[in-house]
Amino acid sequence: MSQTSATPVTRLAVLLSGRGSNFMALQAAIENGDFPAQIVLVLSDRPGAAGLDAARQLGLTTVALPRRDEPSRRDHEAKILAALAEARTEWVCLAGFMRVLSASFVAHYPRRIVNIHPSLLPAFPGLEAQAQAIEHGVKVSGCTVHLVDAGMDSGPIVVQRTVVVEDSDTAAELAERILEEEHQAYPEAMSRLLSVPWRVVGRRVFFAPKKKL
Ligand code: GRF
Repeated sequence: MSQTSATPVTRLAVLLSGRGSNFMALQAAIENGDFPAQIVLVLSDRPGAAGLDAARQLGLTTVALPRRDEPSRRDHEAKILAALAEARTEWVCLAGFMRVLSASFVAHYPRRIVNIHPSLLPAFPGLEAQAQAIEHGVKVSGCTVHLVDAGMDSGPIVVQRTVVVEDSDTAAELAERILEEEHQAYPEAMSRLLSVPWRVVGRRVFFAPKKKL
């Protein structure tokens, strides 16, 4: 999709705790003009996160806010919210952010916080989803991009992509193949959320059909 000067550019913040490959996939898609957005802040609870370094190298604004520096979760979240507000954030993309956000945090960005999880939710929420999938013996897994609510990995589903689980798979091998799908799924989800009218009915996210040119 090409952008024109009339296209509103959405201000995204990315929250991450680790390597940041999903952040990089989002940034690449934005640079490619896949959806009209700008990453205005990359924030991490881990100062040593590789994703923060990658963001700095791209010249993006970064902030590190370790949880241990704050007396309580509420104080930590208040600091994060202040940084988001300072960057005039409109949407928040969680990309390997290892903290569950409180209901009051989520209420600051209603249906404007998105997460990616390496399983076909509602199966295998929480940590080590790929190992959970292998241990359970599922034949197909994948990834889910969803809107964030006050639960863990529980909000309305935006995009899912599947990956076949091979008998010989280790958790690491499955994670690697799922990650490739994640890098497609997250930009696809953001592109749809920001470019097409949508609504949530119950748990279901409905997108308006694309207009024919
Ligand atoms: C991804 O598998 C994502 O689904 C999960 O955490 C991992 C983050 O990877 N929430 P990366 O930091 O984006 O490379």
